[in-house]
Amino acid sequence: MTVTAIHQLPRGFLWGCATAAHQVEGGNANDWWRWEKTIGHVFQNQQSGDACEWWRGRYIEDFDRAADMHNNAQRISVEWSRIEPEPGRWDVYSLARYKAMLKALRDRGMEPMVTLHHFTNPLWLGNDDGWLDDRVPEQFGRFVRKVVEVMGDQCSFWCTINEPLVYATLHYIFGTRPPGVKNRSAANRVLANMVRAHAIAYHAIKELQPHAHVGFANHNVNLKPTGGLPFNQIAVKAVDSFLNTAFMLALRDGVLRVPGARSVSIPQAKGTLDWIGIQYYQEYEVGFDLRHPTSLFIHQQKPAEAVASGVVTPPNWGGLNPSAMFRQIEKVYKLMKLPIYVTESGVPDPTDTIRRGYLIETVRSVWKAANFNYPVKGFFHWTLIDNFEWSEGYDPRFNFGLYKVDFQTQERTPRQSADLYREICRANGLSAEIVEKYAPHLLTKMFPGEQGLSEAKLKPGGNKPALETNIH
Ligand code: BGC
Repeated sequence: MTVTAIHQLPRGFLWGCATAAHQVEGGNANDWWRWEKTIGHVFQNQQSGDACEWWRGRYIEDFDRAADMHNNAQRISVEWSRIEPEPGRWDVYSLARYKAMLKALRDRGMEPMVTLHHFTNPLWLGNDDGWLDDRVPEQFGRFVRKVVEVMGDQCSFWCTINEPLVYATLHYIFGTRPPGVKNRSAANRVLANMVRAHAIAYHAIKELQPHAHVGFANHNVNLKPTGGLPFNQIAVKAVDSFLNTAFMLALRDGVLRVPGARSVSIPQAKGTLDWIGIQYYQEYEVGFDLRHPTSLFIHQQKPAEAVASGVVTPPNWGGLNPSAMFRQIEKVYKLMKLPIYVTESGVPDPTDTIRRGYLIETVRSVWKAANFNYPVKGFFHWTLIDNFEWSEGYDPRFNFGLYKVDFQTQERTPRQSADLYREICRANGLSAEIVEKYAPHLLTKMFPGEQGLSEAKLKPGGNKPALETNIH
């Protein structure tokens, strides 16, 4: 029997895709839905509309697709505005519907991970201020308690909040998302409320479900200094301690420390994580630049090599460096000493030219981290199907799906990356054959010992078996 080299992930590793309610369900009357109605807020003034019609029932066929790709887990989110359309009024139909979705995942052999907040809010929340309102943490806790009471028999794997720093930055500093606030201290207040909300949710979940596995999803950016000048390193540190680490350290220490602001003590948040999610997409170059006073003279840009590489990504998307996933995992583990899940990783790529290589290099990087004994336990690809990409709407340049969606007909077509992901999940890793089939240019980089594989196959009579180079 020929055994080719394989980068094997540990037994029990979770493989899945990630989605968010508003991006796939359609018809959510939440703060994003209101925001989308204003001209200029979304690409070509599009609205989420029916999205991928999950609420109408298409989640069933899409869960079949995920199961067919050998996914053994799936990350979805529940929409607060559906479950609690008015303060304290629970929508029984929506609760039952989500419960049915979780059961549908389980019936297909997929462990559900449920995100409780993924960028959207009920219309009534905080009136027009959203998370600036100091009542929100308690209200979020009440909502979470309801969800766990109703769905706890189908799920015990909870992700409280998706990317709090992205939320605070885009919604309250840049103001490009609802409620469109542009104020640094407002963002800090939102962050403190999110830390409090996470803590309340964590304690509520544990009270109802002591065995629950509770974490949150952190957005990680790989940062490099612009040039070698020492003050650019300082800029990198400042951005890193805000974007990458402020939230997780607040949950480790019970103190929220944001550069340039007074620390906020939130003792009830200390130690409220069972695991941590990493969502790594991009790398940026960071440096001091006197032309940018509004961002405290710190400027962030696509790295020069990424520009020179000629790899086409949408405007404002940073550089792609999939092998830096290892660094993210290592860094987060050293700070937090917790089990890690990659809760999102993906690339905007409508033609599927970049995605296969990107996915392969990312999985290799995750495998490398597992081989350093960093406790990385699962990987969720962003995303299963093309969907509503927030301010970018349905702009095809922002198609992240393993499946392409035609939003006129709702037809789904697998991209080659779906076949690749199926093979990765089935193998619980990455074999030389998989790499050779989907990204042959990476074969010798990934598996130097397999160098002769392709040539041997091409040479007449040269079909010698590849060496066994399994690494466990
Ligand atoms: C978010 C997703 C988003 C994805 C791609 C992540 O930051 O959690 O909602 O679609 O990035 O931009």
